[in-house]
Amino acid sequence: MSDDRIPDVSELSLEEKASLTSGLNFWHTTAVERVGVPSLMLTDGPHGLRKQTGSADHLGLAGSVPATCFPPAVGLASSLDPELAERVGEALGTEAAIENVAVLLGPGINIKRSPLCGRNFEYMSEDPIVSGEMGLGLVKGIQSKGVGSSLKHFAANNQESDRMRSSSDVDPRPLHEIYLRAFERVVKGGQPWTVMTSYNKINGVWASQDPWLLTEVLRDDWGFEGLVVSDWGAVVDRIEGVRAGMDLEMPGCDGRTDADIVEAARSGALDEAALDAVVRRNLDLVRKALSRPAIDGPLDAAAHHALAREVAARCIVLLKNDGVLPLRRDAKLAVIGEFAEKPRYQGAGSSQIVPTKLDVALDEIRALADGAVSYAPGFAIDGSGDAAELRAQAVAAAADAEVAVLFLGVPAAEESEGFDRTHIDLPAVQLELLDAVLAVNPNVVVVLSNGGVVDLPFVDKVPALLEGWLLGQAGGGATADILFGVANPSARLAETIPLRLEDNPSYGNFPGDQGRVRYGEGLLVGYRWYDERKLDVRFPFGHGLSYTTFEYGDAAARVTESGDVLVTVPVTNTGAVAGREVVQAYVSLPGSAVQRAPRELKGFRSVLVEAGQTVDVEVLLRHEDLAYWDLRVDRWVVEPGRYTVEVGASSRDLRSQTAFELAGEVVRTPITLNSTFGELMDDPIVGEETRALVSEGVGGDAGALVLVTDLPVGRLDGFPLPRSVSVGLVEKAQRG
Ligand code: BGC
Repeated sequence: MSDDRIPDVSELSLEEKASLTSGLNFWHTTAVERVGVPSLMLTDGPHGLRKQTGSADHLGLAGSVPATCFPPAVGLASSLDPELAERVGEALGTEAAIENVAVLLGPGINIKRSPLCGRNFEYMSEDPIVSGEMGLGLVKGIQSKGVGSSLKHFAANNQESDRMRSSSDVDPRPLHEIYLRAFERVVKGGQPWTVMTSYNKINGVWASQDPWLLTEVLRDDWGFEGLVVSDWGAVVDRIEGVRAGMDLEMPGCDGRTDADIVEAARSGALDEAALDAVVRRNLDLVRKALSRPAIDGPLDAAAHHALAREVAARCIVLLKNDGVLPLRRDAKLAVIGEFAEKPRYQGAGSSQIVPTKLDVALDEIRALADGAVSYAPGFAIDGSGDAAELRAQAVAAAADAEVAVLFLGVPAAEESEGFDRTHIDLPAVQLELLDAVLAVNPNVVVVLSNGGVVDLPFVDKVPALLEGWLLGQAGGGATADILFGVANPSARLAETIPLRLEDNPSYGNFPGDQGRVRYGEGLLVGYRWYDERKLDVRFPFGHGLSYTTFEYGDAAARVTESGDVLVTVPVTNTGAVAGREVVQAYVSLPGSAVQRAPRELKGFRSVLVEAGQTVDVEVLLRHEDLAYWDLRVDRWVVEPGRYTVEVGASSRDLRSQTAFELAGEVVRTPITLNSTFGELMDDPIVGEETRALVSEGVGGDAGALVLVTDLPVGRLDGFPLPRSVSVGLVEKAQRG
């Protein structure tokens, strides 16, 4: 069917219109056969296709057709490479198209506010620019295949505890600068076909029926042209949802809420124009879906598996290396830890898919190794079995090897959509095993499998540490590639690994109680907090090593005509192998008039540098990313001043510094009797006159002059000026 067959809203009856705005069932929209509107399939999820053909659920309980399981967001984001995300998106779009899925329910770009969020594996970063850029890459890739994406979960949904009711109480600046910023970036840059509302409330208002969020911000300010879909079961009051601009309720509820809409429209309680706007957006979605260029199957599963392996290798962060890595092919190895044999490669819940194939690290290591590779599970992931016996076998294997590669991680049962973690510790049995192995063989390489950050108290004891996150179906092969140096590690931490959970900025304010969670840390999320408080961390945001080394030259910054800033820095690969460096640019404004973190990432670039080569790396800082949210005028403002840019390999490995000047905008609020003498003294019209008069009024006392700066003009009659003089100055300023 072609898209020009899709009718106009005026051709539909009220009942047909209402039916179009809710699902037919769990995964499909409702068709209106009379006028030729077909049903569409929307399905999960962010790192692979979860197309259920039998029983349906939103928690990954029932099976789905096999699809390539790419690294979940926690891994993909660590590549810090939006172009790589775009390639993954293209593959996801292709798989969705082959399966005739109109919309893929992802990416998820909520900010990692706390390491405890049970769904952190599905999210990108603690930083909005990283979350936005990586999300944008995925959206561009998916939609390039004529398949829609669903940007989720809009918004301020940063925990699983009480997720379907809790109110995220966030002040305006962090709301815009941290929690909405990534969404804004993806909407403006990628026009996702759909945006999925979150379950929670924001400052007391349900996200799924918030006119400010769904209409003023999303459509009026950001120019969103697509459709807003509810998260599965997020609709509380359907009529309010329609009024707010929530276009599609999923899943359907057998017409129950459609009947509410019909009744409300008939009684006049719901303006039919609001319903028509919602219906139009549903019809638009159908038109877009029908214009998808044909992509014929079958899926080239082998090619996508190879891509999944390449991508997974780009996601593994080399946290520490005393030189034991890469391994020699002929080294005598002991592989230890049940994760080596039973990979944890994705998280639980709605994003859980059935892979086309599953690499096992142990097999892949054996496939690449020339030397002997022994194996001992060392512990049971689920804590079953005889721990002492398992440990003894592993210790024996380690004692007999040159290097022990020890796979540790978080058991699957501990992290999932639907609940938060209560701690970030690895199981005691694993830590005990590590100590026992180290006692017989100090050459230990630890490989981690975890969706959320874990405490790493043993860092100083091990010579090498790989953060493997969750790597998708080809993670086993990718791990082997990194271990043997077939691939050179290039991933970087998209979230801080703290020394203690208690150091995290949300600690004490997570997950809230009695239906509310206070975002008390405000702007200071992630590294912003650790830097502001000068707290040591286990590994800083942006950190990640390589098998080569990079040297930075002097950075330079130039403001372009559009007001963006182009930062350039020469980067030389001083080692013996080719490698990727992720150049990060952090900005600050000394003497800023508003609260700011010590430094904020405003741009980054992953570049391949051949051994011995120097590359002039360019990092673009977009003008709008340099803005803060001004509370007085309720919009973005770029402050004038001389900004500092620190360029480096992590937020705490800054190699070069430069500066740029921005004219910016001076925010002037109207002068009233409630303005302070300080504001009056800054006013372009009466400023000088006020300063002279006030100075005279306080008898030239410099200290007193400072004291009156914050005094509202109309508050104390006669001090420091006669009231008539103060009123006269205010009126003169107002006349302009
Ligand atoms: C999740 C969404 C998911 C939907 C459909 C919800 O529980 O929050 O991310 O897309 O289910 O499975």
